Amino acid sequence: MSILVPDQVYPVATKNGQLSEEQKAARERIYAAPLESLNPGDAHSFVNEEMWWKFERLRAEDPVHYTPESESAHGAYWSITKWDDIIAIDTDTAQFSNEVSTSLSLPGSNPSVLRMVGPDATPAEVREAEIRGLPSLLSMDPPAHGIHRGAVSEGVSPASLADFEPLIRERIGTILDGLPIGEEFDWVDKVSMELTAMTLATLFGYPQEDRRQLTRWSDILTTAEPGPGKIVETMAEKDQAQQDFFAAFKNLIAQRATEEPKGDFISLMAHSPHMKDFTPAEIQGDASVLLIGGNDTTRNTLTGSVYALHLFPEQNEKLRANPGLVASMVSETIRWQTPLTHMSRRVHQDVEYGGKVIPKGDRVILWYVSGNRDDSKLDRPNEYIIDRKNPRQHLSFGFGIHRCLGNRLAELQLRLTWEEILKRFPEINVIGEPVRNESNFVKGYETMTVVIPRRL
Ligand code: HEM
Repeated sequence: MSILVPDQVYPVATKNGQLSEEQKAARERIYAAPLESLNPGDAHSFVNEEMWWKFERLRAEDPVHYTPESESAHGAYWSITKWDDIIAIDTDTAQFSNEVSTSLSLPGSNPSVLRMVGPDATPAEVREAEIRGLPSLLSMDPPAHGIHRGAVSEGVSPASLADFEPLIRERIGTILDGLPIGEEFDWVDKVSMELTAMTLATLFGYPQEDRRQLTRWSDILTTAEPGPGKIVETMAEKDQAQQDFFAAFKNLIAQRATEEPKGDFISLMAHSPHMKDFTPAEIQGDASVLLIGGNDTTRNTLTGSVYALHLFPEQNEKLRANPGLVASMVSETIRWQTPLTHMSRRVHQDVEYGGKVIPKGDRVILWYVSGNRDDSKLDRPNEYIIDRKNPRQHLSFGFGIHRCLGNRLAELQLRLTWEEILKRFPEINVIGEPVRNESNFVKGYETMTVVIPRRL
């Protein structure tokens, strides 16, 4: 068991660098639990941040860890928690297949999959379809993956990004100029969501005035458990919203097919020579990945950057004294925040890895969020250090053939935002603690109250 070291920087947010009694008790409880009971996929432990202690322990004691069905609402799965193992598996597409639902989802949480299998499917068929998930560029192996990725990759090519840059910068400026000064507001809603919705609408060639509809659809798609007070309260509502999104996307593709080719994702799909071979389920899957990929991730990194600079004030001073650090600060935030905690893989035959045999059909979860805190690979990984030597060396974008398609776009958007913030606001003060969202996949914030005291 590892011990608490005075002056250590912990992965959880602490008051004055000290763990609260509650945090200490949580850590002790997790270290005292039988190893086989550890279930890092429990969504609630991402709200109270107890997942950090599970990952800390698993990296040290059981880096290839099995959680049985009896311990997990998500079904049985394997957890990979160390940096080197994550990269090894992420790049071994022969043994570890992407033909699996992207995230560790709850049974019954994806109405589209239930629709796909139909009402007469047996429970075993339903479960198998849920584990498989919607086929999409992210959940396909070669050669199909290359075809689907190739259909849209030009949308985020260096040339497209260079085209977008002035427009994105201008729109960021407009959003920042509209912020209230001297009064509390929710940074997530007024800045992070606005900015990512604006960029998504640009990428999709979607009307800017309807941009928040894209955010809404994306948020619904990632809501595992609808309920009172959530964006959708019932599974039927989620089903309806998913269908609305897919119908709108299908119509847009049909419309773009009749127009001159353009650089947005929908036009690229519409004019792809392979489009005629894509099944409706694949089109839905690709649409979902493009939407979700560009939404929560950048949004939560942007909120995370303001929060991290608040938790590490000396880094804030460093940035303000040297705006040339923006690019490395952005990469460090992407590592520190790790906005997507994991990706899934599946083995199609028994695989021996790390001294264990992973049986055919089992799911393997690559916990990027844990690998990014692996101190055998990174120096002081719990600390937020905006001038690290190799700031782009992190796992947040994954590795191998599925490495994030939008990684340069995400960095661009965050860099432009911070360049524009530094021109305008001498400080952004975080009030209280942000509210974290309850998800084992999207690591982020529901709300974060801030005050901008004055302009420069
Ligand atoms: C900080 C922001 C972002 C993070 C942390 C992130 C993270 C990731 C991760 C972890 C993967 C899977 C990698 C793997 O399985 O090896 C991925 C794939 C993907 N991301 Fe991102 N992403 C971000 C922003 C974006 C943006 C802005 C877009 C916009 C288009 C995007 C689109 C995609 C797509 C399409 C894929 C699937 C790629 C494939 O399977 O070939 N992402 N992303």
